[in-house]
Amino acid sequence: AFMNELRGFKDLEQQVKQRLQLDHVVIVPGDSDELSWVKQEMGKACVRYMKGILRRDDTVAVTGGGTIAAVAEMMTPLEQAGNCLFVPARGGLGEQMENQANTICAEMAKKANGTYRLLYVPDPLSEESYQTIIEEPSIKEVLKIIRGAGVVVHGIGDATTMAERRKTPQEVIDTIQEGKAVGEAFGYYFNEEGSIVHKVRTVGIQLEDLQHTNCVIAVAGGKSKAKAISSYFNLGQSNVLITDESAAKELIKGS
Ligand code: F6P
Repeated sequence: AFMNELRGFKDLEQQVKQRLQLDHVVIVPGDSDELSWVKQEMGKACVRYMKGILRRDDTVAVTGGGTIAAVAEMMTPLEQAGNCLFVPARGGLGEQMENQANTICAEMAKKANGTYRLLYVPDPLSEESYQTIIEEPSIKEVLKIIRGAGVVVHGIGDATTMAERRKTPQEVIDTIQEGKAVGEAFGYYFNEEGSIVHKVRTVGIQLEDLQHTNCVIAVAGGKSKAKAISSYFNLGQSNVLITDESAAKELIKGS
């Protein structure tokens, strides 16, 4: 039965890979909506994948969220990839401390025996402050490193869940709901077709930057995130998905 299960996942991985047009898919057993250790398993799978691709002196940008926090939790020293630099992908995006990209980035760097640079900017920002802040020399320097990262590791969330978690102002929630947003990643909210419904104004990686990134790894699972995952991939910016069985089965429904 165990061997069947392994083979089963190979098929499922292949189907998800085709459906979402990805280079690589890893599926861990279970549903992370229901069991927290499934999230840790995705974390482990992501660390394993990162170890396979990271090279000396690489720069890795990471987003916030509980799933990427699990990747940091599971990180171990990167023996083959010394001196990697970790940076947050974007600003805090209104998350709690433990879910912020800065916090996760510092923890991941420490566990990997790498180094890190952090980003100190409030967000969301007004257009005026945004323009001033991105011209600040110390910020400009970190932003350049971030936008040039060779590897990006990011979460994907359900749009409504994320808008609520971030204490988003009511008028923005209205925009998100009227636009029928289902998914969120990097501060962008997407509808089912993958069109951008709303974008949080903050510094760091912008969706366009991902076209120049060697490897973009999405880590997201749980049945509740299936719609969010497929909406995000309609824009097709990541090459790799690390997910769980429940999300994967939901993703291939109707194919
Ligand atoms: O806020 C950062 C972020 O990566 C979002 O872009 C994403 O929607 C969310 O976190 C995922 O959070 P979690 O892994 O806790 O579901």
